[in-house]
Amino acid sequence: MNRRIAVLISGRGSNLQSIIGAAAAGQLNATVAVVVSNRPGAQGLARARDAGIDALFLNPKDHPDRDAYDRAIVDVLKARDVTLVCLAGFMRLVGPPLLEAFPQRILNIHPSLLPSFRGLDAQRQALEHGVRVTGATVHLVTSALDDGPIVVQAAAPVYDDDTVETLSARILIEEHRLYPEAIRLVLDGGWTVEGRRFVRR
Ligand code: GRF
Repeated sequence: MNRRIAVLISGRGSNLQSIIGAAAAGQLNATVAVVVSNRPGAQGLARARDAGIDALFLNPKDHPDRDAYDRAIVDVLKARDVTLVCLAGFMRLVGPPLLEAFPQRILNIHPSLLPSFRGLDAQRQALEHGVRVTGATVHLVTSALDDGPIVVQAAAPVYDDDTVETLSARILIEEHRLYPEAIRLVLDGGWTVEGRRFVRR
């Protein structure tokens, strides 16, 4: 596989920034070929442009349904010869057109130790549950939400006086280290998926 990656975002883009930084530092041996946002004001779009990366807002409202929107994303990515798609705070479910265009080639980062605390507000879920350890997960994306084969995980402690903000900040430090590591692993190959396990040979 070539090493041209796309990053899909909806907001702040701090994970995008960590990927851009790792690529620029030569740690990925990869190029961020394009950044796509489903929201026009996403801070990540500015981060990408500052780094000289092609950054597009694709408006879901310009498309009749989710599949049509996903197909538009696929067209953008294929036109740029992308082989790996990284979801980084992309607040949309990925549907069949994208999954079929990039089988086992879509990654997502989630701020919990999956399979705990899927979905929105994972840090708040962890606090409310009272766990002492949570963390971050990078996984291959499947049609089920926050459910695909786990590539890498990192733990973060939960302290008694944590708020959603302090816990999120601690997890985010792990995320920024973890996502480039996962991308490098996946691009380097030498792995398979067995059942729901990501297995390195
Ligand atoms: C991160 O916590 C990520 O795990 C979750 O959404 C957040 C995105 O943050 N999926 P950023 O846009 O990368 O700063």
